[in-house]
Amino acid sequence: MTFNLFEGMMQCQAQREELCPGATVLRGFATRDEAAIFAQLPEVTTAAPFRHMVTPGGFRMSVAITNCGSYGWVTDRTGYRYDKVNPESGKPWPSMPSIFLRLAQDAAASAGFPNYAPDACLVNRYEPGARLSLHQDKNERDFDAPIVSVSLGISTVFLWGGLRRGDKPMRVQLTHGDVMVWGGPARLHYHGVLTLKDGYHPLAGACQINLTFRKAA
Ligand code: SIN
Ligand code: FE2
Repeated sequence: MTFNLFEGMMQCQAQREELCPGATVLRGFATRDEAAIFAQLPEVTTAAPFRHMVTPGGFRMSVAITNCGSYGWVTDRTGYRYDKVNPESGKPWPSMPSIFLRLAQDAAASAGFPNYAPDACLVNRYEPGARLSLHQDKNERDFDAPIVSVSLGISTVFLWGGLRRGDKPMRVQLTHGDVMVWGGPARLHYHGVLTLKDGYHPLAGACQINLTFRKAA
């Protein structure tokens, strides 16, 4: 009994990696919900199809984006913002599936952020060759709530930087089911995703799907 309990505790610890105070990787945390997530995703992406948005500087993003929840993150020539409607259709974003919300709340709580109430879920689709350059998430109204990022499909290398753009980022391999949570002192750290390599995952196909939860308003 005692031995099993000890083993269980060690396993628990092995599944959490603290990158710095406030930033935790929860290895495999979303795996238990993988079937439900992939069952819900088509509802979201049919109502609000993925698209390659344009940055304020006029560049087409290599990552294809959509959203669910009360707010969606968008970019166009006028800037980055959260919008209650999908500018493409003029309609509200599809609602956040309850399984998504519960997963985000459980992950946040496991990483030390109880009472998480995200109102936006950005869905990013990376195909081989897509990348996300180093940036801070700072379009949210306040920075009290953490960001919860769920990686699904083929592996990515997440770049975890510091508070200054020039801080050398750590390279963190994220595989299917891994969840990253960053908040508190880590909330404004720079981060990004290295160019995605070829791969295949039975649920996601030849891409990586990332669900990023935020409290926007
Ligand atoms: C983001 O940084 O906003 C999204 C991260 C990701 O897609 O992994
Ligand atoms: Fe980000």
